[in-house]
Amino acid sequence: MEINGKTRTCGLIGDPVEHTLSPVIHNTLAASLGQELVYVPFHVKQGKLAEAVRGAEALNILGLNVTVPYKSEVIACLTEIDELARNIGAVNTLVRTASGYKGYNTDMEGLYRAMQSEGIKIAGEEIILLGAGGAARAVAWLCTMRGARRVYLLNRTLDKAQTVAAEVNASAGREAVQPMRLADYAQIPKGKYLAIQGTSVGLSPNNEDVVIADDAFYEKVHTGFDLIYNPWETKFMRLVKAHGSRAYNGLKMLLYQGIIAYELWNGVEVSEDEAQMVYKRLKDVIT
Ligand code: ATR
Repeated sequence: MEINGKTRTCGLIGDPVEHTLSPVIHNTLAASLGQELVYVPFHVKQGKLAEAVRGAEALNILGLNVTVPYKSEVIACLTEIDELARNIGAVNTLVRTASGYKGYNTDMEGLYRAMQSEGIKIAGEEIILLGAGGAARAVAWLCTMRGARRVYLLNRTLDKAQTVAAEVNASAGREAVQPMRLADYAQIPKGKYLAIQGTSVGLSPNNEDVVIADDAFYEKVHTGFDLIYNPWETKFMRLVKAHGSRAYNGLKMLLYQGIIAYELWNGVEVSEDEAQMVYKRLKDVIT
């Protein structure tokens, strides 16, 4: 694409940003849709976030993604925030408005679209969610808001699971999320569950690590979804498959969170064909 006087800029702010795949998503979409837009990573050092957002506004940057460690801290820099993002307490997308930036959380809608595209249901389901950190916390919100019958929220540190459950249940007005100690997984009632792996265990280079290794656990899983996409197939996914169930990695979640951000910035709807084309590009880059 030729950069000219009308080219608009979007980007990513985080620390670090070197390994991001987001430029692949947005620059591929812009080229394919014929839009004059470039997407670049901005390495924002700790203590510089507010200055960076003010600077972006002054430079009339159209939109920003926000990654680790700023997804919560950035909320203080916004002039508006979407309700879902406020509930989750994390923002990954900023959209330029007349007065500053409005914050959204497209990670969760991204996960939802990824699940829809794989035919995975949330409404009415019983779900096991592993982890209660930043990522898993947002998944607990998504599952509850999308009508999961029950979410067993398992975490190594019980009080974090309890805090998340209390917040989500209070907002939902029902006891949807049940916090549990990770080690107590055997107490989950007999049945078949969608299991979402939201801890950082198994992330490259620790490819052989898994948060639960016991076969008895995987007998309860009808579908496994790992938020990790590097490695392509985690040990969690391998164990789910070894028990005859379907398992998915987090690359489609990454894809769709980017697509939703792109749609918000450009006021366009990205077709499923375009989404698949970008997915292939992403897959080529990481495998
Ligand atoms: P993220 O933003 O990726 O969610 P995070 O907020 O640091 O990262 O959360 C990491 C999650 O992985 C937490 O649920 C953490 O459990 P604790 O709350 O008990 O720390 C979980 N986790 C990390 N290492 C783990 C391990 N070795 N065993 C079990 N859980 C682990």
